[in-house]
Amino acid sequence: MQLPDSKQLIVEHSNKKVYDLGTQIVKVFNADKPASDVLNEALNLARVTESGVKTPHVVEVSQVEGAGWALVTEKVPGVTLEQKMEEDPSRFYEYLEQFVDLQISIHQLHNQLLPRQKDKYGRMIDSLDGLNATTRYNLQERLNGMRRHRRICHGDFNPSNVIVSEDGTLSVCDWAHATQGSPAADAAMTYLLFAMKDQQQAEAYLELYCDRADEPMQVVRQWMSIVAASELARKRGDQKEFLMRWIDVVDYN
Ligand SMILES: Nc1ncnc2c1ncn2[C@@H]1O[C@H](COP(=O)(O)OP(=O)(O)OP(=O)(O)O)[C@@H](O)[C@H]1O
Ligand SMILES: [Mg+2]
Repeated sequence: MQLPDSKQLIVEHSNKKVYDLGTQIVKVFNADKPASDVLNEALNLARVTESGVKTPHVVEVSQVEGAGWALVTEKVPGVTLEQKMEEDPSRFYEYLEQFVDLQISIHQLHNQLLPRQKDKYGRMIDSLDGLNATTRYNLQERLNGMRRHRRICHGDFNPSNVIVSEDGTLSVCDWAHATQGSPAADAAMTYLLFAMKDQQQAEAYLELYCDRADEPMQVVRQWMSIVAASELARKRGDQKEFLMRWIDVVDYN
């Protein structure tokens, strides 16, 4: 595909750019991004859409001239829940309630064809050459000991991935890390994503999630070293020390 001159840049990361094309959104990855990753994100998105999650719809996966692979989705007009929270901090808790209820509603759903969460986390822990073999072994043991679940988990559920339409409807984008697995692991990841920006918001999230999902906070906490390791494996930037602190708390008993 060729990108039109009228495109508007929404966000730019070191490995991708996201553009608004008017009625569609295109996520353009760098040339070194493997085709399998982009196809996997598109497939995850198609699968969760078919399982009943409200998401933008896939339009196409294509190669962009002079760049890498691109994922095109239908644009959902609106603003993200992150923007809403930033624009009106006095309504943060109200938005947090919507956010938590949405996550719990996704956790009710199943899709047997999504990648398995334990496999994915296991691979990510193995890939961490910055951790010594003993720490990796402890993390794998902990992962293997966690109870098995098969619920749809977004894997990167944070307010920037929730789009609020004008009528208040919520849609969820960015399914690159989706799996079937434990909702508590998904909540642990969301907690860490909040905590990387704002510890108070993270605590408010965790309390509300555990309350509404009737999930013991201890179970979510048991996942935190594992999801911190998987986040570290994504190499998304400057949070190495923060994530290492979570990994260091692995219970060695
Ligand atoms: N179909 C869509 N409709 C409306 N807005 C969208 C759509 N897809 C993406 N966006 C907007 O673009 C932003 C970035 O897209 P997305 O979340 O998919 O990528 P990303 O956060 O850059 O990726 P990653 O989390 O994998 O680094 C979103 O936060 C949202 O504001
Ligand atoms: Mg995103």
